[in-house]
Amino acid sequence: MNTISQDTTIAEIVTERPATAALFERFGIDFCCGGQRSLASASEAKGIDPQTVLDALDEFAASRAADAGAHEVSALSVDQLVDHIVKQHHDKLREQIPAIGELLERVVRVHGAGDATLAPLQEKFNELSSELATHIELEESTVFPACRAAAAGGEDALDPALLDQLTHEHEETGAGLVALRELSGDYDQAKAHCNTHRFLLQSLADFERDLHLHVHEENNVLFPQARQALAAAS
Ligand SMILES: [Fe+2]
Ligand SMILES: [Fe+2]
Repeated sequence: MNTISQDTTIAEIVTERPATAALFERFGIDFCCGGQRSLASASEAKGIDPQTVLDALDEFAASRAADAGAHEVSALSVDQLVDHIVKQHHDKLREQIPAIGELLERVVRVHGAGDATLAPLQEKFNELSSELATHIELEESTVFPACRAAAAGGEDALDPALLDQLTHEHEETGAGLVALRELSGDYDQAKAHCNTHRFLLQSLADFERDLHLHVHEENNVLFPQARQALAAAS
């Protein structure tokens, strides 16, 4: 890939090397909604020396195994990207939401009286889940077909205001994930009350990781490609 410097944006790095998403997760650096920031500015905002992040990226690059399993999306066409997002992220969300909802029910029922963080966690998760259900419905019914049409050269197929709206909703999703993480004590399984609670924390951490990647692939890969196709058609 191109040389990474302190001026490279986080989105560029994750788009070219999707496996680095895990590294940014570890540093708590936002690569989806805040991905347009440079490595230096994103690191400093987290109180981390940018050189520390660059060194970690070098180490990461040295381990080619780190890329195993990561999906390379930057080379995909709009059609392929949409297929990938629906299959890998939307379908997965449709499985995760009821499964986590059920785990939350059980944990709140058994431990809710003794742990005041559990009920607000359930409430926040339900709120975020219902927003996400509406969000992915808008993507699949309206925006993604319009992205495909724009890529096929159709004029006026895509209303750019809808992309702005979805991008704004992604920021709300990001804020919701931060709230879930706080309410869950950073998903620290050592503080779990039981095995179900442990599995719940693990599942919420997976949910967060997958959503970060999902939003990144839309904000930083699909939407720019769709906007480009739109500009080329007009
Ligand atoms: Fe989506
Ligand atoms: Fe989205």
